[in-house]
Amino acid sequence: MLTPLGFSLLRHLSDGSFHSGEDLAATVGLTRARVSQVLKDAEAAGLALERVKGLGYRLLEAPRFLDRHIVQDRVDVLTSERGLSTPVQVEIVDQVDSTSSELMRRSQRKDIHGTALASEWQTAGRGRRGRTWTAVVGGSLTFSLGWTFEQGAGFLAGLSLAVGVAVLRALEAEGFTGVALKWPNDIIHRHLKLGGILIELNGDALGPSTTVIGIGLNVRLPDAIRKDITAPVTDLTKVLGKKGEVDRNLLLARLLTELAAVLDQYANDGFAPFAAEWQHRHAYQGKPVRLLLPDGAVVHGKVAGVDASGALVLADGPRRARFLSGEISLRRA
Ligand code: BTN
Repeated sequence: MLTPLGFSLLRHLSDGSFHSGEDLAATVGLTRARVSQVLKDAEAAGLALERVKGLGYRLLEAPRFLDRHIVQDRVDVLTSERGLSTPVQVEIVDQVDSTSSELMRRSQRKDIHGTALASEWQTAGRGRRGRTWTAVVGGSLTFSLGWTFEQGAGFLAGLSLAVGVAVLRALEAEGFTGVALKWPNDIIHRHLKLGGILIELNGDALGPSTTVIGIGLNVRLPDAIRKDITAPVTDLTKVLGKKGEVDRNLLLARLLTELAAVLDQYANDGFAPFAAEWQHRHAYQGKPVRLLLPDGAVVHGKVAGVDASGALVLADGPRRARFLSGEISLRRA
């Protein structure tokens, strides 16, 4: 586990140059033994470190850390360019158990509408269906946004799909191409998972509802970490190819603004205005699939699309059936 001092050490090392053990120990006020332990922890957290006798330590592919001022300034510019009504307030922390759990806890005591919380490191990141979410310091984007709706849970059934549309719009605006959606809300590139969306809500059946929209994106996953993840995954650095480096600060700002735009529209019109775009962005639209239901049953069909509540519609000849949850995979014809 990385401590706050561990993070200051990493920030110091993020210039990519060599720093001796003595220099690092003096800068952050730790003993040399402690410095060496912190660096071991950093490696376990997925950072690649080079040690050279006589020179010291150097971070390979040193990450640019998230910077609240850069993100907030960019969000403010984009918010006023787009004429959005809800100003998003950005908060960035070094570590937390889960940005979604933290916003959910805060929602018990205060209004979290428009509060965005991003963390460099989650000690208990959560995925859908009880899975864990793996991320690396400096190589991922893990954040959550709180949003309140006047309506109840029924109205919010298609929200996670609309959020997928917002994420793809943001990625496209930042120059990422070939990224698609996989029902219900995976972000994929060439059928490999790039990111995911987890929506949690609290409130009365008839509203209002407080939602916490959690998003995780792989930005640069070291091979050692990639091997630990059982699902086939990719990252945004691979999507970008030789075109350059991913700027996580600008990307986070763009994601938050596209989300605010989509959420504002959703609050008025629900999922219907996003359905056509969602289908267009769905990698499996019109394809024969196998759907694994939560109870273990398997259904086959051709993806006809999604309905206004975000349910997957499968066609089997002239018959149509709708599904609210499950995992799809491509079925070879
Ligand atoms: C999925 O399983 O596909 C959804 C993954 C969602 C992960 C994000 S990371 C930020 C937020 N905090 C969490 O603990 N989970 C979400």
